[in-house]
Amino acid sequence: MSNTRIALVTGASRGLGRSMASHLARAGVGVIGTYNQNRAEADALVAQVGGHGVPAAALQLDVSDSGSFPQFASDVRSVLDGFGTDHFDYLVNNAGFGLHAPFTATTPEQFDGLFDVHVKAPFFLTQALLPLLADGGRILNVSSGLARFTYPGNAAYAAAKGAVEVLTRYQAAELGDRRIRVNVLVPGAIATDFGGGLVRDNKQVNEAVAGAIPLGRAGEPDDIGAAVPLILADGFAWANGTRIELSGGQNL
Ligand SMILES: NC(=O)c1ccc[n+]([C@@H]2O[C@H](COP(=O)([O-])OP(=O)(O)OC[C@H]3O[C@@H](n4cnc5c(N)ncnc54)[C@H](OP(=O)(O)O)[C@@H]3O)[C@@H](O)[C@H]2O)c1
Repeated sequence: MSNTRIALVTGASRGLGRSMASHLARAGVGVIGTYNQNRAEADALVAQVGGHGVPAAALQLDVSDSGSFPQFASDVRSVLDGFGTDHFDYLVNNAGFGLHAPFTATTPEQFDGLFDVHVKAPFFLTQALLPLLADGGRILNVSSGLARFTYPGNAAYAAAKGAVEVLTRYQAAELGDRRIRVNVLVPGAIATDFGGGLVRDNKQVNEAVAGAIPLGRAGEPDDIGAAVPLILADGFAWANGTRIELSGGQNL
C-alpha cells in the first residue's frame, strides 16, 4: 500500500471528474472522489475503482462551503489512515457548475456562487489540504476554454476560470519549496451534464461546437479523463505553473 499513489478528485461523481478517477485507478492510482449531491454515483465509482485493485473512497463535499473545509480535511485524514498512509499525492480541483447568463442580467448572487465554487474553493480547499499533500505532489486546477475564447453568456463563469488560471501560477510560485507542481487543465466544450447538458443534448449547440473544433466533434469525458494520469505522471513533472489546454483545438 505505501507505494500506491493517491489522488483526491473533487466532483468525481459525474462527468470529467468521474472519468479522471476511473483512468487514474486504471493507471494504478488510488482515489478519494468527492460528491456533492449524487452519493449513489459516487458509490458506483468506488466500486468500479476498487475493481482495479487500488484503494478507493467517496466523501461528501460542498465546495461552495469553505467553512466545511477543515472538517473535510479531517475526514480525508481518516480515509488515508484507513488506506495505511498519512498523505495523498495528487489534488484535482475539478468540481464545478456552469451558468449561462448575459452580462447585463447576471446577478451578484449568481456571480458569487460561481466565484465561490471556481475560485474560492481551489484557493481555500487547497490551503486546508496542503498538510496532507505529499512533498513533491501535484495540484491540477480546472479552467475552461471560455477563459481564452469568447461565447457570449458566460461572463461570470469565464472570469472565474480566468482567475483560477492566475491562481495556478501563484500557487506554483509559492509551493515550489515543497516541490509541489501546480498546473491548470483547460478543457474545451465537453458533452457532460454541465450547463444542463447543453453541449451533449442540444443538437444546435453540439453542432456549433463540433464546427469550431478541427477534429469535427465535441469533446467526450474520456478525452479529458484519459489525459489526467499522463499529466500527473513523473514524466510530466517539469510542467509547473502552466496551462494545459485539451480542447481538440477549439476556436483556434
Ligand atoms: N463540460 C464542459 O464543457 C467543461 C468545459 C470546460 C471546463 N469544465 C469544467 O470541468 C469541471 C467538471 O465539469 P463537468 O463537465 O464534469 O460537470 P458535471 O458533469 O456537471 O459534473 C459536475 C461535478 O461537480 C460536482 N459539483 C458541482 N457543484 C458542486 C459543489 N458545489 N460542491 C461539490 N461538488 C460539486 C458534482 O457533484 P454531484 O453530482 O455529486 O452533485 C459533479 O461531480 C468543472 O470545473 C467545469 O467548470 C467543463
